[in-house]
Amino acid sequence: MTVPPSIIAPSILAADFARLADEVRAVEDAADWLHVDVMDNHFVPNLTIGLPVVQSLRAVTRLPFDVHLMITDPRRWAPGYADAGAYNVTFHAEACDDPVALAKDLRSAGARAGLAIDRDTPIEPYLDLLPSFDTLLIMTIKAGFGGQRFLPQLLDKVRAARRHVDSGHLELRIEVDGGIAADTIEQAAAAGADAFVAGTAVYGADDPAEAVRRLRGLAERANAGA
Ligand code: DX5
Ligand code: ZN
Repeated sequence: MTVPPSIIAPSILAADFARLADEVRAVEDAADWLHVDVMDNHFVPNLTIGLPVVQSLRAVTRLPFDVHLMITDPRRWAPGYADAGAYNVTFHAEACDDPVALAKDLRSAGARAGLAIDRDTPIEPYLDLLPSFDTLLIMTIKAGFGGQRFLPQLLDKVRAARRHVDSGHLELRIEVDGGIAADTIEQAAAAGADAFVAGTAVYGADDPAEAVRRLRGLAERANAGA
């Protein structure tokens, strides 16, 4: 199996929102994608940022945006993020009754399409939909808040997805989100993840760029041993 280079996606949820442009630039040369958590206080209890912030940030960085929509009614809102220049737009399986149709809309709007699976959602019903998607985001916490403890039992879903992706020769990133840090990223990589979201582990560090590089080194090492 040829393993593509790991993607490290710092989550600005853990950044200082009063200095967002500076916080984004701090990881610009180290990160692959910038993970943007959009929460609507309905799909999850938390409320974060929306389209105007994404539009403004688009002008201050070259980093591709990995938008993670934790919102109800993604069919109404998701294409707007593609129009705003997001590289990848991920919506939750639990919030959408026709994920394949929305994936098509996102791709026609020029973005990649991502499907997210929350903590309590089994992966099996969604495996056959994966050819319509570019990324599969498997939560390793319950979606809604940063800084939670990584749940290793959720890596069973990553293993199942990896088997499915490899046996079907699918072109799909398997992304993990929640509690990814120096002490958890290797197990996630060994389970088959190849894209890693990290909020607290990056923006809680004294040197966010160095934290990104360290995470990448650990992920690559675990992959090489796989
Ligand atoms: C939570 C978000 C995550 C969050 C991860 O629902 O989807 O992207 O920022 O934060 P950490 O890395 O601190 O667990
Ligand atoms: Zn996220």
